[in-house]
Amino acid sequence: MLKRVFLAGLIVGICGLMSTVFAEEAPKKEEKSELAKIMSEIDKSYKAAEQISGYYKYSSNDWNIIAESSAKIVELAKIVIGKFSRPDDKKYQDLNKSMLTEAEKMLEVTTRKDEKGALEDAQWQVRRLRQTCAVCHKHLGIHIYPNLYPGKKEETQPGHEEIPEPKTTNTPKDW
Ligand code: HEC
Repeated sequence: MLKRVFLAGLIVGICGLMSTVFAEEAPKKEEKSELAKIMSEIDKSYKAAEQISGYYKYSSNDWNIIAESSAKIVELAKIVIGKFSRPDDKKYQDLNKSMLTEAEKMLEVTTRKDEKGALEDAQWQVRRLRQTCAVCHKHLGIHIYPNLYPGKKEETQPGHEEIPEPKTTNTPKDW
């Protein structure tokens, strides 16, 4: 009898504990700025391209992903440049332009997807693009990458090192 009461109590206790744990883990509802929302969109497109950037070969569907992602980033980067300029911060302005340029180059690569070296060029552009993200966030003291890539906290922050010259052959598979 006592044992049952104890067990029941234990279960109730565990349930109570679990609900507080889950309640605490529930995402905080903060109002996002409009720029933050656009950034999240940019991020989605960027990650779609990044996700396949380690492939040895792109299918035509993969090329479509690259084309759509870069076109989207081009569109959004233009909005950021037009609507969220910071005339007093030249580096921020320049980095936004770099983001646009790198995304445009990425889109351009997709127009010659059947040519030799296009795969490597596309992969190179993903890295170049990532560097603009990382450098700007670093410039502004925004630390999002550890959250964006959980489990990769130990990794060197992208943008801290110069990216070596792209190789047209023997692309390392960890790209
Ligand atoms: C020129 C500067 C600049 C560049 C380039 C840039 N960002 Fe950002 N990013 C910002 C700023 C500023 C914020 C903070 C916006 C806010 O919270 O109002 C931000 C925030 C973010 C966030 C957080 C959004 C959220 O949900 O709060 C993500 C994700 C993000 N950027 C991804 C990217 C990616 C991916 C790229 C590159 C393809 C990139 N950013 C390029 C300036 C930049």
